[in-house]
Amino acid sequence: MTFEQAQALLTKKGQTQLLKYYDELDAQGKENLLTAIENINWDFEAALANPVDMSGKDRDIKPIAGLRQAQIQAKKAEFEAIGVEAIKAGKVAAVLLAGGMGTRLGVDGPKGAYDIGVTKPLYIFEQQMKNLMEVTQKCGVIVPLYIMTSDKNHAQTTSFWKEHGYFGYPEMEVKFFKQEMAPAVDYDGKIILERKDTPALSPNGNGGWFGSLKAAGLVEDLHARGVEWLNIYAVDNVLQRIADPVFVGATIDSGVNCGAKVICKTNPYEKVGVLCMDGTQPDIIEYYELTDEMANQKDENGDLAYCYGAIMNYLFRLSKLEEIADKKIPVHIVEKKIECLCEDGVTRKPEKENGKKFETLAVDLIKPMGSVLPFEVVREKEFAPIKNKTGVDSVESARELLKGNGVEL
Ligand code: UTP
Repeated sequence: MTFEQAQALLTKKGQTQLLKYYDELDAQGKENLLTAIENINWDFEAALANPVDMSGKDRDIKPIAGLRQAQIQAKKAEFEAIGVEAIKAGKVAAVLLAGGMGTRLGVDGPKGAYDIGVTKPLYIFEQQMKNLMEVTQKCGVIVPLYIMTSDKNHAQTTSFWKEHGYFGYPEMEVKFFKQEMAPAVDYDGKIILERKDTPALSPNGNGGWFGSLKAAGLVEDLHARGVEWLNIYAVDNVLQRIADPVFVGATIDSGVNCGAKVICKTNPYEKVGVLCMDGTQPDIIEYYELTDEMANQKDENGDLAYCYGAIMNYLFRLSKLEEIADKKIPVHIVEKKIECLCEDGVTRKPEKENGKKFETLAVDLIKPMGSVLPFEVVREKEFAPIKNKTGVDSVESARELLKGNGVEL
C-alpha cells in the first residue's frame, strides 16, 4: 500500500490520526505503518455501530437439561467405553486456546509458560500436558494437539514448547496456528497508536478459533486424520481434563453437536455465566442478566434451575463447525487499559481504562451449534483457573487445588 492509498482509505474511515507521525519515520517505519494499515480488520466498525445487546431482554430464556454427576457416575463405564473407542479410532483432537494476553496475571509472554511450581519448576503448559498424557497412555494413541497463539505470543510460545521437548509429546502431533488481531480504539472510536509506526492491535478474543484454524489450512489436516470431534480448552485451568473419555462418550451418546464441561453454581448469585435455552436454541446467560427470580428458581429436584457454569472446555462436532463457519457471532466491546503512545513520545500502559477492544467469545458458538450437553464436573477435581496472581482464581488458589489432587509442587 502506498502513502496516498493509506491516506485515501483513512480519510474515508475517519482514522487519519494513524498517519500523524508518518513524516518522522525512517523507511522501515514507514513500511511497517503502511503494512499495518493495509492489514487492519475493519469488522470493529460494525460492532461499534451496532453494539451487541447484552441485556437479554428479547430472549426467551429457559433452563437447559444437562447431566449431573450422579447421572454421569451411574453410566460412567458405558460413556467411558464409547469415548475410548472414539479416541482410539483417532476421532478426537484437542485445541488449546492460548492466544490471550493474560493481562490480569501480569506476566510478559505466554500465560502457559508461567511457572506454578514451588520446589521445582512446573509450567502451566506442562501440567496440562501431564493431564492429557494420562488419556493418551490409557488409550494407547496420541491425540493430535493444535495450539492457537497470537502475534503477541507466537514466537515465544513455539520456542518455549521446543525448548521443553514438547513436554514429552511427539513434536509432529503438535501444530500451532495464529488467531487474528483487532484494533483497539479510544472512546471516540479512533484507532489508538501504540508506537509511531504501530496501531494498537490485540488478539480478537477466543471465538474466532475455528476460522483461524481453517485459515491455517489445518481443517484439511483434521480430515486427513479422520478427526470428528474437537476438544477446545483454555490455557488457564491447570486441573483441566483434556479428551476426557467419559465426557467424549457422554457427548457422542447424547447425539448433540457440542458438549460443555460445567460446574454447578454453589449459590444463586455466583458470578458465572450459565448455559440455558433461548427458545429452541442453547445459549449462555450472564450472571448480571439473571433476574432474582431466575437466579433462585429451582428444578424438580430442588437444585438451582440455572446452575451450569461453563468452564471453557467444549467438545465440538467438526462437521457442524464447518457448516456454521460463515455465521457471524457477536463481537463484544470491552473497556481495557491499552498501551498507547503518549504526548511525550513514550509508549505506556495507562493506570485506568482508556479505550475499547473487540472480542468474540468461544461460548457464543454454542448457539449456532444448535444443541449442547452440559456435563457436570466436580469443581475441586477439574477447575483450577489461573487468572490472577493472588486471591480468587489465582496462582495461590490453583496451587492449593493441585495439592488437593495429589500433584507435587
Ligand atoms: P481470558 O478471557 O481469561 O483472557 O481467556 P486472557 O487474555 O488469557 O487473560 P486476561 O483477560 O488478559 O487477564 C480465556 C482463554 O481464552 C484464550 C486465553 O489464552 C485463555 O486460554 N484467549 C483469550 C485466546 O486464545 N485469544 C484471545 O483473544 C483471548
